[in-house]
Amino acid sequence: MNIGPWQFQAPDISSLAHPLETRPVFLAPMAGITDRPFRQLCRQLGAAMAISEMVTSKPELLNSLKTRTRLNHEGEEQPVSVQILGTEAKQMARAAQFNVQHGADIIDINMGCPAKKVCNISAGSALLKNELLVSEILSAVVQAVSVPVTLKIRTGWDTDNKNAVKIAQIAEQSGIQALTIHGRTRACAYSGDAEYETIKAVKQQVNIPIIANGDINSAEKALHVIQYTGVDAIMIGRAAVKAPWIFADINHFLATGQHLPEPSLQKKSEIVLSLLNDLYLFYGESHGTRMARKHLAAIVKPLSGGEQFWKNINQISDAQQQFAMTLDFFNTCN
Ligand SMILES: Cc1cc2nc3c(=O)[nH]c(=O)nc-3n(C[C@H](O)[C@H](O)[C@H](O)COP(=O)(O)O)c2cc1C
Repeated sequence: MNIGPWQFQAPDISSLAHPLETRPVFLAPMAGITDRPFRQLCRQLGAAMAISEMVTSKPELLNSLKTRTRLNHEGEEQPVSVQILGTEAKQMARAAQFNVQHGADIIDINMGCPAKKVCNISAGSALLKNELLVSEILSAVVQAVSVPVTLKIRTGWDTDNKNAVKIAQIAEQSGIQALTIHGRTRACAYSGDAEYETIKAVKQQVNIPIIANGDINSAEKALHVIQYTGVDAIMIGRAAVKAPWIFADINHFLATGQHLPEPSLQKKSEIVLSLLNDLYLFYGESHGTRMARKHLAAIVKPLSGGEQFWKNINQISDAQQQFAMTLDFFNTCN
């Protein structure tokens, strides 16, 4: 798959006699989750690209601690894709330029977020209602930067107003180089199952690369979505938070039809402990310890004995103690 200068390759399958449906597998942007340490971990575990948490386009917030932390791409593998959010074309164009100056290789525009905080100011998926404004924002951002610009949307505003095909055509005309579609409407939020029919319809109507997203939580589901929709890539969100090793398994399954063995406890322990370390280094120990809790809840809590571990570790605010207790859990876990 091609986004501007970036060629996304699934793993080398030239030696395989019957490859199935290899496609790049991306990590979805998730505010509060896909910070630099988690993005780097997922890249190491096979994600072809990891999109940043959304960064505001409001000039008064660009210097806030939260935004400055999100602008830190030191040591991150290319391409660095940074997602921006906003409602005003000029502001979005300036935010795109600002992020390119701070290391973005790709700018991704968020028109998919259903959060009230976001939709009340008509940003995120609320923008899908206003096709003229969509066109204005996309054109302004594409013209403002020399790097590829991509877009992330939902299938529409609500089930009676699924305008993903129209938005995709606007995106293509505006110079957007790839489009991600989460197979739910804004009104659906996260309820019900994602549908892939609209994604398939979009894929048939436009010529830019299409990335399918929503409820892809296994290698079999990944294969089904790729075969059903014909998309160029897939994107994984929540399933990667619980099991960041899902990328390697999907890559392998798409190439061979076989699963990789489930990572051993030893391997899971190495993954979790290295993530904790990176979070302490990135945020500092106090903030890093708080950020680590959501990963411990997602990855460690479901393991045998994990519920009790979670009750104990959730009270801990000291990084060294958190690390030592996690190490101890894995050493005694079976
Ligand atoms: C905690 C959380 C934060 C999210 N933040 C963003 C965001 O900042 N930008 C965005 O476009 N989508 C965001 N999303 C939506 C995801 O990118 C993705 O579209 C959605 O979770 C569906 O994919 P999944 O079923 O693989 O999780 C977020 C989702 C979650 C669960």
